[in-house]
Amino acid sequence: MSVVRFGVSLEKDLLEALDLYVDENLFTNRSQAIRHLISNSLAENKWQCDNDVAGSLTMLYDHHRREIVGRLTRLQHDFHDLIISTLHFHLDHQQCMEIIAVKGKASELTALADRLRSVKGVSFARLTMTRAFTDEGEHESQGAHR
Ligand code: NI
Repeated sequence: MSVVRFGVSLEKDLLEALDLYVDENLFTNRSQAIRHLISNSLAENKWQCDNDVAGSLTMLYDHHRREIVGRLTRLQHDFHDLIISTLHFHLDHQQCMEIIAVKGKASELTALADRLRSVKGVSFARLTMTRAFTDEGEHESQGAHR
């Protein structure tokens, strides 16, 4: 994917808020944070609610990146109560794909995805969630991705 550079003018306080956002979310730089904010805003559904959902998180990463495997493993242990199972595929000499089955509150799963996505060397991370059950016990499916 080709990357295009462009200039952005921001008020000073907005820029300070952006830098704070970069720090709080462990992004490497402003560009990474802005990319994340734009794709979030464009997503059709944003799930920050407390609904109980199930889903999958698909990630691509370069396992040659220094310390990345340890970082990803530590994060998955930190969120072990949300993770049902992890499938790991060695796509080629460099790229790994992981599909993580998750279950829990939508906001918590979103937080897990945000943390994994922010790890340097992760080139793709998409969370797909579906509401497992309604209060009435009826099955209701509603897709959302970000
Ligand atoms: Ni691998």
